[in-house]
Amino acid sequence: MTEFQEISREWLVGDGDGGDVRPPADLRPEIPHPARMYDYYIGGKDNFPADREAAEKVLAISPMVRLSALANRAFLGRAVRHLAAEGIRRFVDIGTGIPSAGNTHEIAQRVRPDARVVYLDNDPIVLVHGRALLSGTTPESTAVVQADLRDPAGILAAPEVRAALDSGEPVGLLLVAVLHFIDEADDPYGIVRTLVDALPPGSRLVLSHGTLDFTPAADAPRGPAVYRGATAQLSMRDRAQVLRFFDGLKLTDPGLVTAPLWRPDTPEQPTDSQVGIWAGVAEKP
Ligand SMILES: C[S@@+](CC[C@H](N)C(=O)[O-])C[C@H]1O[C@@H](n2cnc3c(N)ncnc32)[C@H](O)[C@@H]1O
Repeated sequence: MTEFQEISREWLVGDGDGGDVRPPADLRPEIPHPARMYDYYIGGKDNFPADREAAEKVLAISPMVRLSALANRAFLGRAVRHLAAEGIRRFVDIGTGIPSAGNTHEIAQRVRPDARVVYLDNDPIVLVHGRALLSGTTPESTAVVQADLRDPAGILAAPEVRAALDSGEPVGLLLVAVLHFIDEADDPYGIVRTLVDALPPGSRLVLSHGTLDFTPAADAPRGPAVYRGATAQLSMRDRAQVLRFFDGLKLTDPGLVTAPLWRPDTPEQPTDSQVGIWAGVAEKP
């Protein structure tokens, strides 16, 4: 039994002592969760049949989704390594996802052992995994907070985030593969502006975003349709729309590109430019 299954079992069937342990409503295994679907795409084991079924439907429509998810995860790693090498020690990672190979704190702390990471996600499943994320860390170095990106003021008020901002040091703000879960009606551009405005100068925004720019028009509505049955809906955006998130910031070379093309580590790395993820890093002046 994986740790996920053990922990989830505690939530789902009780603590074995007759205690009244109930899952938070959002943890329901019968409804696909984007965090668990993503975990399935990148080869994790922390997902339920409903997640796998929905993920398989998406993969049947667009087999590139798995490659895109892996390319996105690899981008996150390279971007965090880049920031840490540039001296960034404070990271705020919103839309953390279920812990997987190469979590932000592991990558950052390998380069800078004094790096501090605050993880935020609105899915309680990520909190359930807090233990895994925090293992081998101290409370000062790594924290996990349940928060919703649609409430940027709430995020900025969280004591762990405040501590990062009040340090006055540049902060690495990570919005990696999360903004495509924010509908236009929830003002995604306003949310990013509010968060970026609160960052000290020299801070970096690391952002990636799903796109249908490379999907045949006839297939475009089909992937997002599967997510309509999930706990969060997909709002894919084209390159120009993703670029708008960087307004007022200075894009780091090579600019906004598909995920595999953002500073690939080796020439051998797959560089399929058509994966449906735009990715970029920018600095706040
Ligand atoms: C595709 S995963 C990305 C995980 C990780 N950032 C990565 O790129 O490897 C998207 C994550 O965003 C979270 N998420 C979706 N909507 C959110 C919201 N409104 N507020 C906070 N997190 C959200 C999901 O729960 C999921 O864990």
